[in-house]
Amino acid sequence: MTTELTVLVVGTGGREHALVRALAADPAVTALHAAPGNPGMATDATLHAVDPLDGGALVALAQQVGADLVVIGPEAPLVAGVADDLRGAGIAVFGPDRAAAELEGSKAFAKEVMAAAGVPTARARTCHDPEETAAALDEFGTPYVVKDDALAAGKGVVVTSDRDEALAHAEACGRVVVEEFLHGPEVSLFAVCDGTTAYALQPAQDFKRIFDGGRGPNTGGMGSYSPLPWAPQDLATTVIDDIVQPTLDEMRTRGAPFIGCLYVGLALTDAGPRVIEFNARFGDPDVQPVLALLDSPLGQLLHAAAHGRLAEVPAPRFRDGAAVSVVLASAGYPESSSKGDVITGVGRANGVSDVDVIHAGTALTGSDDSQQLVTAGGRVLSVRAVGYDVADARTRAYAAADLIAFDGLQRRTDIAAEPLGVVEGAAALEP
Ligand code: AMP
Ligand code: GLY
Repeated sequence: MTTELTVLVVGTGGREHALVRALAADPAVTALHAAPGNPGMATDATLHAVDPLDGGALVALAQQVGADLVVIGPEAPLVAGVADDLRGAGIAVFGPDRAAAELEGSKAFAKEVMAAAGVPTARARTCHDPEETAAALDEFGTPYVVKDDALAAGKGVVVTSDRDEALAHAEACGRVVVEEFLHGPEVSLFAVCDGTTAYALQPAQDFKRIFDGGRGPNTGGMGSYSPLPWAPQDLATTVIDDIVQPTLDEMRTRGAPFIGCLYVGLALTDAGPRVIEFNARFGDPDVQPVLALLDSPLGQLLHAAAHGRLAEVPAPRFRDGAAVSVVLASAGYPESSSKGDVITGVGRANGVSDVDVIHAGTALTGSDDSQQLVTAGGRVLSVRAVGYDVADARTRAYAAADLIAFDGLQRRTDIAAEPLGVVEGAAALEP
């Protein structure tokens, strides 16, 4: 077993803050660094003003701090090949190389791998021009699902019953994937992979629309909870056996072993779980409640994965109970965001028992002796709580969230109130 680990976390958002919190709880993690990090992480990690997309600068930083492990949070550096740079310099990385990150970077590539691996997913066509798109829309029928082939920061997917809107989105994107609509509740399942084998974390649900009842535009996620008491007991095992393992085998055969988190976005259809999308990283805020409940050491797990030795460490364990995260977003989100709004109440919210406040888009302004926390992004904070069950965690999260204020604050009131199901998707189809 590893006894002393220095870990560098790359990224600035809620996912990275939640990772830092969980890594700090691992007794083997003796030093934590973040590049560039955010004000919330400063309690647990040393922050370094390094650009997550600058592979050379990250190699230099990892060497300077003596990192035993670099954990890359967001998709952009992964797709840009930052993990390749670090591995090239002999540094252990949790996060796929550029070639393996294509599972997220190109929806068409992901579909091709799923087809080759026999992974259950929506039937789909990759379309290059309006004629192909029109034919695919007619083949699959309504609701239409049109996805930008390339990374689009959560804005690439249009689900609509309006054929003109579907065609217009395809026209604006260029290359698109048109696919059949999947009916059923959505689930996020994170698989920690070492290129050959995988361990599943506990499933979660992420509420993606901006308004209560699943209305309004898609966001990066407005709240989440875990576990899912209503989901099949064997869901994680099924997903590893039928989806993750065949995908890992296929990627290895292609010479692009996947080392990192394979985020499986699923629809639980009447015919069983179907992949909606793959991401090459943990999801945010979905991973927040999952990490709050993790009862085994995260640093040692990710370190083993980075070294291709996952089979040598125990599978992750989770404590009883449940966790809920409620996102607080700034004015204008998701179309835009508001910077510089003064945030109050974070200290009081953090003082509520079983609650911690995760920073996503915050900054400190002012001089050293009178610093103020202000908004600095669309999703600003998440209030995360653990409890006996989902209802208890939810009550605590909202009680703490009530203590936080800033101009233009937006939040949903129905996170984890009931399982996110078909309703959310169906409401999105209304004008
Ligand atoms: P994605 O970026 O692929 O996760 O898509 C964003 C959202 O669109 C998903 O979270 C789903 O709610 C919805 N979506 C995407 N693909 C499908 C599909 N084939 N059937 C139903 N809903 C979908
Ligand atoms: N919560 C959705 C994502 O991280 O992509």
